[in-house]
Amino acid sequence: MNTSTNQTLSPSTQKGSDKQFFDDVMTGLQATPKYMQSKYFYDAAGDKLFQDIMNCEEYYPTDCELEIFSEQTEALANAILAGGDGFDLIELGAGDATKSSYLLQHLLDKKVDFNYLPIDISEHVIDYLNSTLPVTLPGLKITGLNGDYFEMLKKAAADSTRRKVVLFLGSNVGNMPVENAEEFCAELRSHLQVNDMALIGIDLKKNPKTILAAYNDKEGITKKFNLNLLERINRELYANFDVSQFDHYPTYDPETGSCKSYLVSLKDQTVNISGSEPVHFKMNEHIFMEISQKYTVEQTNEMAGAAGFKTDGHFYDKKRWFLDVIWIAE
Ligand code: TRP
Repeated sequence: MNTSTNQTLSPSTQKGSDKQFFDDVMTGLQATPKYMQSKYFYDAAGDKLFQDIMNCEEYYPTDCELEIFSEQTEALANAILAGGDGFDLIELGAGDATKSSYLLQHLLDKKVDFNYLPIDISEHVIDYLNSTLPVTLPGLKITGLNGDYFEMLKKAAADSTRRKVVLFLGSNVGNMPVENAEEFCAELRSHLQVNDMALIGIDLKKNPKTILAAYNDKEGITKKFNLNLLERINRELYANFDVSQFDHYPTYDPETGSCKSYLVSLKDQTVNISGSEPVHFKMNEHIFMEISQKYTVEQTNEMAGAAGFKTDGHFYDKKRWFLDVIWIAE
């Protein structure tokens, strides 16, 4: 999506994806309290900042899950292969596919018959995967799909009658409140047949300080990542957010396991977004940016059962901070 060179378009006359972005931003900013949809973090600049978050010292989830995929590759592959050969491996929110590449390489080495269908909301990510993976993983049959998870999952499911294995890594399932995660799992199940599988990465409850630090890195990358969404709105929706007048406020509640990020307005201010009524912010008013829910193992087992899956295997990193769980559709 590149509309930045065409300043004459107003969002309401732009192509569908921009109109959707505009509508979602306005809905969130006209609500009380204000909120943003976290899927919009990931434009090209956001993708780069998220890479930096993953590389920063405090952000542990990626390292933990990478350890599971790099050190327990064979066990993971065997768990998947227990359901039979000849399947579609669908990854929701594939990102740069670093973790799944271990699994893909292993399956290719074993000459397993499978197609890899990464789905991502970022067009940039899908272009990258479509062009690089066939080079780094020779022989891989890949079809990247750019769009919303379920729309693309439906598309992938309609195009194939093979067994499906759905990867949903990186604790993406944590990026929604528990109730929505339960609905998400039920909806995921509804797109699958009996014996299809899901391999889900879930960040576990642990020392609250460890969790909070991961969303409040000393270098301020997470702050920049949050502010980038305001900058993205400036760039793509011709708005005039002064990002220096918003601060990042992360919280973690050990009771509920909810880790939440907010932006706080540092003064009374008005922001204009092309084609809309001005948006007012009171001093200290917050915008809810993102939830990153942490679970206990028991909670994940219950969530599986409630959605129509049975839990088939648990894979942990050495610190037991992160869980990759295999669910089989019943
Ligand atoms: N959604 C990811 C997570 O929960 C990415 C992320 C890391 C993130 N830090 C963030 C999203 C801060 C929004 C705000 O771990």
